[in-house]
Amino acid sequence: MRAGDHLLAATLLVTAGVASAAGDAARGALLYEARCGACHSIDAHRVGPLHRGVVGRRAGSAPGYDYSPALAAAGFVWDASRLAAWLRDPEALVPGQRMAYSVPEAADRNDLVAYLKSVSSP
Ligand code: HEC
Repeated sequence: MRAGDHLLAATLLVTAGVASAAGDAARGALLYEARCGACHSIDAHRVGPLHRGVVGRRAGSAPGYDYSPALAAAGFVWDASRLAAWLRDPEALVPGQRMAYSVPEAADRNDLVAYLKSVSSP
């Protein structure tokens, strides 16, 4: 092995570690398509609101989508931990909301949140 190979191997290991701690956005994209795509898309309102820019946006505030009064009045800004809590149990986070879906597995939530982040940075 040349020195450069060692460096590459070390870099790959570090990158893999970061990906698992912060969630894997590529896997999240696949999960999104399979589990959220029936109701959501990134750039258009469907049954649920569009998701581009959701991280950093006030909950219930994407223009042109008709939110439940509960989510429209929730008053917080979406960040990673709020999104994970929402996906675990939307009704526990915002009683009276209208999303009848949840994601029981923590690893899946983590990857979905990483994906939502990746479509939210400018
Ligand atoms: C059965 C349809 C349905 C599915 C499946 C679904 N959602 Fe939703 N989602 C909704 C609806 C409806 C709302 C609006 C809720 C309200 O107004 O109270 C919503 C709202 C949201 C919001 C709040 C957005 C905002 O602008 O405040 C997020 C985030 C979200 N969904 C993420 C997801 C993710 C991620 C998935 C896949 C794991 C998913 N949803 C699956 C219907 C769905």
